Amino acid sequence: MTMERTVRVELGPQSYDVHIAPGALAELGATVAALGSATGAVVITDSNVGPLYGARAVESLRAASLAASVIEFPAGEVNKTLATVDSLLDDLLAVAPPIDRNTVIVALGGGVVGDVAGLVAAIALRGLRVVQCPTSLLACVDSSVGGKTGVDHATGKNLIGAFHQPGAVVVDVETLTTLPREELCNGLAESVKHGAIRDAALLDFIEAHVADILDCDAESMCELIGRNVAIKAAVVADDEKETGNRAHLNFGHTIGHAIEVCVGYDAIRHGEAVSLGMIAANRLAVSRGLMASADANRIERVLVSLSLPVRRGGLDADEIWAICQHDKKARGGKVRMVLVGALETVAIHDDITAADVAMALGALGEE
Ligand code: NAD
Ligand code: GLY
Repeated sequence: MTMERTVRVELGPQSYDVHIAPGALAELGATVAALGSATGAVVITDSNVGPLYGARAVESLRAASLAASVIEFPAGEVNKTLATVDSLLDDLLAVAPPIDRNTVIVALGGGVVGDVAGLVAAIALRGLRVVQCPTSLLACVDSSVGGKTGVDHATGKNLIGAFHQPGAVVVDVETLTTLPREELCNGLAESVKHGAIRDAALLDFIEAHVADILDCDAESMCELIGRNVAIKAAVVADDEKETGNRAHLNFGHTIGHAIEVCVGYDAIRHGEAVSLGMIAANRLAVSRGLMASADANRIERVLVSLSLPVRRGGLDADEIWAICQHDKKARGGKVRMVLVGALETVAIHDDITAADVAMALGALGEE
């Protein structure tokens, strides 16, 4: 069986393919050219990924007769800011040959690059096409698909942004071999999330292939990413702008985002915070009689097997609660949280109190 997979994201005239294969970066140029009328591409990447894969991306673009240049910004969530977007726009408007409406932005990197470069593409010249080239596992299984772009604000995660769907997504699983182990594990939190909310068989797959996944075995990676992208594609096709069930993808994120803001973006990875957020949400779901303890324990075991954190002491419940009130899902000052009942059964709860959050956080402090 070939490792290669293509998953279609069905969004009417905005539909696109996610192509997953070892070595797929070599097809980047052909993919951009196939969008039609592209004269050139600007690769936006970060200071870690640029030196590793920037030249390969440019080579592929030039082989497809496209003008190509690379602009880089310093890696890290702390740089997912409007200031970075501003500086990238300066660089973009200075590239030679100059950009025009047919220029395609290539977002080459992890979720931070995807979100920042996606936002730059959404606003430069009132909208340029973007091709997402995710190189972190988190970006492969989640952030490169679905069109959410954005940056953080001091008061909360991802509070400034736009929906801007890519024209294509190119996933080269070989790039994952240079990803530090902690970053690989970081991405697996979103994969566990997908399993819990939509596909218990994905949890079975992860449990059965932990060693291969952590070894970055190409076949396991193609299968893992293909399954995750299929879940994400179905959710996005059903509710592109998050007016309904797309919010299910925020399982673990209300408290997770608050933890990120509370401890600092440079002190915890997004997936690690989501791992803690899922443990906390499950405590609340079990206490409300929605989730069986056995399912909560299973999710915790899977997270532990992937070296993801499930305990974190020293969190201030009042501070977390205050930050939760700025969450994008909050409505009229009411905090809303996604809770899983039986696996694959999810609901958004809008009756979350400060006491609920304090109780949920209790799960993170236990021995
Ligand atoms: P990241 O982009 O910071 O990447 C993690 C680290 O790995 C960085 O240091 C990066 O330079 C490095 N890296 C990436 N690919 C590499 C490779 N192949 N080899 C070596 N190093 C590599 O973080 P992330 O975990 O990929 O993404 C997290 C971000 O994604 C958060 O900001 C989160 O809010 C966002 N996100 C967005 C969506 C969405 O739908 N838009 C969904 C989930 C998460
Ligand atoms: N990661 C949440 C979403 O794409 O909606």
